[in-house]
Amino acid sequence: MAVNICGTGSYIPSHIMDNNDIAALVDTSDEWIRERTGVERRHLVNGETTVSMACEAGRRALQYAGVSPEEVDLIIVSTISSNVILPCAACEVQNGLGAVNATCFDLSAACTGFVLAYNTAAAYLAGGVYSTALVIGSESLSNLIDWRDRGTCILFGDGAGAAVLRTDSRKMYLPVTHSDGGKGSALTLKSRHDRNVLDRSPQDRERYEGDGYFMQMDGKAVFQFAVKKVPEVIREVLEKNSVGQDEIDWFLLHQANKRIVDSVAKRLGGPIEKFPMDIQEYGNTSSASIPILLDEMNRKGLLKKGQKIVIAGFGAGLTWGASICDWM
Ligand code: UT7
Repeated sequence: MAVNICGTGSYIPSHIMDNNDIAALVDTSDEWIRERTGVERRHLVNGETTVSMACEAGRRALQYAGVSPEEVDLIIVSTISSNVILPCAACEVQNGLGAVNATCFDLSAACTGFVLAYNTAAAYLAGGVYSTALVIGSESLSNLIDWRDRGTCILFGDGAGAAVLRTDSRKMYLPVTHSDGGKGSALTLKSRHDRNVLDRSPQDRERYEGDGYFMQMDGKAVFQFAVKKVPEVIREVLEKNSVGQDEIDWFLLHQANKRIVDSVAKRLGGPIEKFPMDIQEYGNTSSASIPILLDEMNRKGLLKKGQKIVIAGFGAGLTWGASICDWM
């Protein structure tokens, strides 16, 4: 059995921070950020939470699909920036939507998270365990960023995207995914709960100012990894499923940096028009970037029935992967 995306939704916070606002905080410029990343502005939470954005994106996706909350039997929220640990974000979304029949859990795989959440839901659906899934990527990365570090604060943004998946009689595609924990130091963020509670002292709070409690990234290393591994994994997934590259209508890549998307398109032989981007508006929203882009394209009417789409994610772990889907 295969799966079909039958609805999409997203939620973008209305509060905007443009590159000039960032240049007021750190030594950078609008010109540098545009040239090196493609980002012009990003939307940041201002009262919203990872859960509230996930809930709204999920609600909009269900509405689009014409699926009632009671029909959903699986909710997966991909996030590294949840405002809750217990209960998990997916259970909070279930409660917010009234999806009383759903089984709910979160998945943490940073910028590859949506691809892995999609694959997990697809495997459950294909195996006949569930028949309707709501897969959400939601991030409030602005809470995890050191706003004094120009190597990271220029890049990231907040938001949520969601897709409704249902079983379908068409061809089943197998995904390709990889992880390399040996290269984990390229992108790190310590949990603020990593210390033994008995060790806590008044000085403890100061440790949040440093020592890895904000996101740290070796941008160059991640960039080089992405431009090499993403074209490779896309070729792998096409070969595994005996699908020709020219049969693919859209390549929806994690929106990490415009130059990464440009380079992947070039290495695969383009055309760049098949590699849509919205990073200029939202920045890098980690696991939310692919479903936000998917929803934007869907609502603009760019996705046509029968089109084939590759989604590809990459990021901390290091992790990377790609999947193929038939549209509606
Ligand atoms: O989401 C998945 C994981 N993340 C990614 O995929 C991100 C991948 N990496 C990147 O997008 C890029 O590496 C960055 C955007 C983070 C950085 O761009 P870069 O072209 O790799 O810059 P760089 O770190 O190599 O720095 C080049 C120069 C340096 O100056 P010198 O040594 O050449 O004089 C930096 O000090 O640019 C300087 N620089 C900046 N200048 C102005 C670094 N950051 C900034 C800045 N503004 N924000």
